[in-house]
Amino acid sequence: MRAAVLFEAGAGGLELRDDVVALGPDQDEVRIRIRATGICHSDLSVINGELPGGGGAMVVGHEGAGEVIAVGSRVAAVAPGDHVVVNWIPACGACDDCRAGRAHLCMTFMANLFERPHFEVGGAPAFGMAGTGTWAEEVVVPWQAAIKIGHDVPFEHAALLGCGVPTGIGAVLNTGDVRPGDSVAVIGLGGVGLSAVQGARLAGATTILAVDPVEAKHVLARRFGATDTTAPEGLAAARDRLTGGRGFDHAFEAVGRSATIRAAWDVTRRGGDVIIVGAGAPGDNLEISSYELLFAARNLKPSVYGASDLRRDLPKLITLIKTGRFDVEGLISRRLRFDDLPEGVAALDKGEAVRQVVVFD
Ligand code: APR
Ligand code: ZN
Ligand code: ZN
Repeated sequence: MRAAVLFEAGAGGLELRDDVVALGPDQDEVRIRIRATGICHSDLSVINGELPGGGGAMVVGHEGAGEVIAVGSRVAAVAPGDHVVVNWIPACGACDDCRAGRAHLCMTFMANLFERPHFEVGGAPAFGMAGTGTWAEEVVVPWQAAIKIGHDVPFEHAALLGCGVPTGIGAVLNTGDVRPGDSVAVIGLGGVGLSAVQGARLAGATTILAVDPVEAKHVLARRFGATDTTAPEGLAAARDRLTGGRGFDHAFEAVGRSATIRAAWDVTRRGGDVIIVGAGAPGDNLEISSYELLFAARNLKPSVYGASDLRRDLPKLITLIKTGRFDVEGLISRRLRFDDLPEGVAALDKGEAVRQVVVFD
């Protein structure tokens, strides 16, 4: 089958292959025929080496949806023919975090990603990104990573429900404590940030500042509910103008850099929340003095995967989409074929795209 394989991080490291095999399923796994998969910034970060991939050959992609085509003997939650979203932080349901309602912190599967390869490329073993690897015609994942949805959800929309949408909206609705009338800044307007903008609107924020260097993203952000927009250089002035200099109640960082986390900190009010949504590089250190950390009195909150539990959150998200309250179609800037993946990655790198979705026929 076809799959996009990263042999080595860096330019030219991604190869489109047609000699890839997905291994399994074992008794607790399911095989999914991927019908649509998105290009998320984390894919780009793994390809260019900013995020660690784990070494060795890897099938890229983690935002996908498709149809179940085979299940292991102990799988009851899904059956062949079911449509599913791939969950890249599957929840085991049995660990302390899962039982306490913190499914996004479950490490049961994350801790064992490299126990057993799930692919072979030209006969050699290969792993899938974050235990998935959705830039492939088929993947095999634990059944907990296959979240059933209705047949009426288009696969392109379902794919985005695997990462960008729950990460952005979840940061607001699960991690943030946004109340009607609050002021919000969202820094970075990709698929994740624009989902956060929509989340802020849904939560009733009345000031929503959307920040991005790319002008075209400002137009989109306004369509999704932003009340104000600015380039990064205008951030301090916008804070002063919109909050009387006090700072925003909540600032969401959806870029994945220490500099933008620092910018979010600087525009948040005392007692307000700085919510980290972007995935930064291991060596990119944030500088905040211990003095500031106490006396500036902001709350630094990580929001891994938007603190989402897809099994819990997807039904509501799908209802928001069906009732016109969340615009997922508007996040899709382009539909691509598998062969166009490298070009799509380059477009994301240039800041030209929002969500590009590869559709397998
Ligand atoms: N200030 C504001 N926005 C910026 C800045 C900056 N200094 N630098 C870049 N941006 C913008 C880009 O122009 C782009 O519109 O951030 C946006 C990032 O969007 P995408 O590349 O589409 O990324 P996305 O897939 O939305 O992911 C955002 O979340 O899941 C993580 O790994 C992902 O860290 C990434 C983040
Ligand atoms: Zn668990
Ligand atoms: Zn992602």
